[in-house]
Amino acid sequence: MRAPVDPGRTAALRLDDVRFAHDDLAMRFDLTVEEGEWLALIGPSGAGKSTLLDIAAGFVAPDAGRVWIGGADVTDAAPAERPLTMVFQENNLFAHLDVFRNVALGIAPNLRLDAKQRRAVSEALERVGLAGFEKRRPAEMSGGERQRVALARAFLRGRPLLLLDEPFAALGPALRREMLALIETLRRARTDAPMTVLMVTHHPEDAVGHADRVAFLENGEIVVEGATDDILSDRTNAGVARYLGTTSSDR
Ligand SMILES: Nc1ncnc2c1ncn2[C@@H]1O[C@H](COP(=O)(O)OP(=O)(O)OP(=O)(O)O)[C@@H](O)[C@H]1O
Ligand SMILES: [Mg+2]
Repeated sequence: MRAPVDPGRTAALRLDDVRFAHDDLAMRFDLTVEEGEWLALIGPSGAGKSTLLDIAAGFVAPDAGRVWIGGADVTDAAPAERPLTMVFQENNLFAHLDVFRNVALGIAPNLRLDAKQRRAVSEALERVGLAGFEKRRPAEMSGGERQRVALARAFLRGRPLLLLDEPFAALGPALRREMLALIETLRRARTDAPMTVLMVTHHPEDAVGHADRVAFLENGEIVVEGATDDILSDRTNAGVARYLGTTSSDR
């Protein structure tokens, strides 16, 4: 769990009255994630969770509103210009590249690395427990191992904001817990502030012990947000109660 946020500091991510409409869903997002905070985003399928992350990452341009990262207005910035890194449920890796190169892409898009960078890639692989896997192709690894590669690359990039869109949805409970603990360790290994995490999950229990806060998204809007334990025990909001009561069949 993080230390209390200094109110004088700039938020890691702020969505300010952001509007976006897909064919049949008009979305409106107001959200602040403080620096060093871990926020879990939950809600029914189709609520707009991935869209919110895509807008933060710059893959989707909002129709209105502003996106701020670390105090800078990035609304018009390309994805690569934003100080963040995103890990998806799958397809994070290039199938034709081995593990070493997949990780190296995080710091050297042209794959020309100097000795220091090569060491950094090896260290990143070591940190996620994949030393010795350098020459493997993604197809020769388990789903959990592939996501470790994606995490190694994400942390090697050293960006202050990490967006996770159900990266462990395909993994079993024990492996998911292991991956969450790994993120916790890696994000605190940064020399300055811990990395800020915005995580979409369909498993509310993933938030417990990791997320400082939970935001519940329904029909394109965040309808409730608060401390993790408060939200997950909330039975006053009908949407949250319905979602929590039917999580396994709600996917
Ligand atoms: N490329 C697209 N074109 C048109 N509509 C889309 C597109 N992507 C998403 N949508 C619609 O936008 C809404 C929000 O989708 P989004 O993927 O953000 O939901 P989600 O909360 O991430 O759902 P899930 O939990 O299933 O991943 C849905 O109604 C969806 O059908
Ligand atoms: Mg989604």
